[in-house]
Amino acid sequence: MKLWGGRFTKEVNQLVFNFNASISFDQKFYHQDIEGSIAHVTMLAKQGILTGAERDTIIEGLKGILADIESGALVIDSACEDIHSFVETHLIKRIGEPGKKLHTGRSRNDQVALDMKLYTRDEIVEVKALVKSLLTQLHTMMQEHLDTYMPGFTHLQKAQPITLAHHLGAYFEMFKRDYSRLCDIYARMNYCPLGSGALAGTTYPLDREYTAELLGFAGATLNSMDSVADRDYLIEFLSAMSTIMMHLSRFCEEIILWNSNEYRFVELDDAYSTGSSIMPQKKNPDIAELVRGKTGRVYGALISLLTTMKGLPLAYNKDMQEDKELTFDAIDTVKGCLSLFTGMISTMRFRPEIMAASAKNGFTNATDAADYLVNHGVAFRDAHGIIGQLVLLCIEKNCSLDDLSLAEYKEICPAFEEDIYEAISMKTCVEKRNTIGAPGRDAMKKVIEANAEYLKTLA
Ligand code: ARG
Repeated sequence: MKLWGGRFTKEVNQLVFNFNASISFDQKFYHQDIEGSIAHVTMLAKQGILTGAERDTIIEGLKGILADIESGALVIDSACEDIHSFVETHLIKRIGEPGKKLHTGRSRNDQVALDMKLYTRDEIVEVKALVKSLLTQLHTMMQEHLDTYMPGFTHLQKAQPITLAHHLGAYFEMFKRDYSRLCDIYARMNYCPLGSGALAGTTYPLDREYTAELLGFAGATLNSMDSVADRDYLIEFLSAMSTIMMHLSRFCEEIILWNSNEYRFVELDDAYSTGSSIMPQKKNPDIAELVRGKTGRVYGALISLLTTMKGLPLAYNKDMQEDKELTFDAIDTVKGCLSLFTGMISTMRFRPEIMAASAKNGFTNATDAADYLVNHGVAFRDAHGIIGQLVLLCIEKNCSLDDLSLAEYKEICPAFEEDIYEAISMKTCVEKRNTIGAPGRDAMKKVIEANAEYLKTLA
């Protein structure tokens, strides 16, 4: 059944119907649509717009439809234009006259605004739970790798030694911000648009605050035109999800490098790797690559919606129907990537000896060697030059700073003493760095403790 045949003299062209229809995708929120309708009729009866008996019949009908969709007894087909018409049509079919009163004081514009908000709210909760699992996994790994030394990089060149706990801790902070962004978005969007009508409210004495309360919103939205025209919260959500994907993608890129033959810092579990159809030796990091690759489609959803919204006059325009498929796809993508990524990192095996050897080979202690000279009265700029000369010597001799003899040190600068070896050992280089946020064991332990407290506060 169509909801709007009255003023038309011709049947709509089939291609037009198909082009216009949204039921193939908006059926995804049938549950939310029915939940919203139940709240709406409950409010209508409280306000004396429907009788208590009408309310009860409608709610019973709606609950029956919900149960039948869920059991598979009622199949959502494409005869109706959208999920809103589907539910209303079947309600009228089931309960007759009272069903025709469901849409009193409501438009599909505020209805779809509500349904999409209810759906998004539920999904934000799910994405938050997945980010929380990832944070918990990272936290466990950080505790295990306080003493796993590795090179820290800038420009993908070995820079200074750090620990794996410290490196993982950087991602912990990123996902922590992602989590808090999701909380902010939820709080900002949590206002109910229902009762805004097509755009200008209604003449019925609706109690919008009551409907909002029934549906768990913080309150009712305050401008009926904005209520039906606002998709900011989806843009924010897509932006937060794009940022999550950006973080996952950077992490995946590192795991792909670390898993390569050249690095061998990590070995992915067989269950999270794939083989080659031609090269028998291959074990490929496809999951990490796919997560990195799927980042593009989530960014794409964000840019699409920003572009769809940019020229729209107030209030509702059909363009806004385009918000759904891409948001649904982005949500499914992000949820899938988060859970697979967490599984992948919880099963991969690190190789601490190789990581430590790599940190040792790349002159990552050169800054500490320069600091040693500064502590022995040499100006930093001069110390920088002296260590540069020593690095050159090491490159010629194909050795590390730790391998030079004291005589070789003294030949370039007499300020060096026997304690230089201790001063530039990997352990010293890492352990001396104990300012807040640095990789030293004491500093890291404090951060790990604070993060344990933080994790306890998450819903
Ligand atoms: N399918 C529509 C959407 O997703 C529902 C709202 C339709 N409103 C209208 N005035 N045609 O936006």
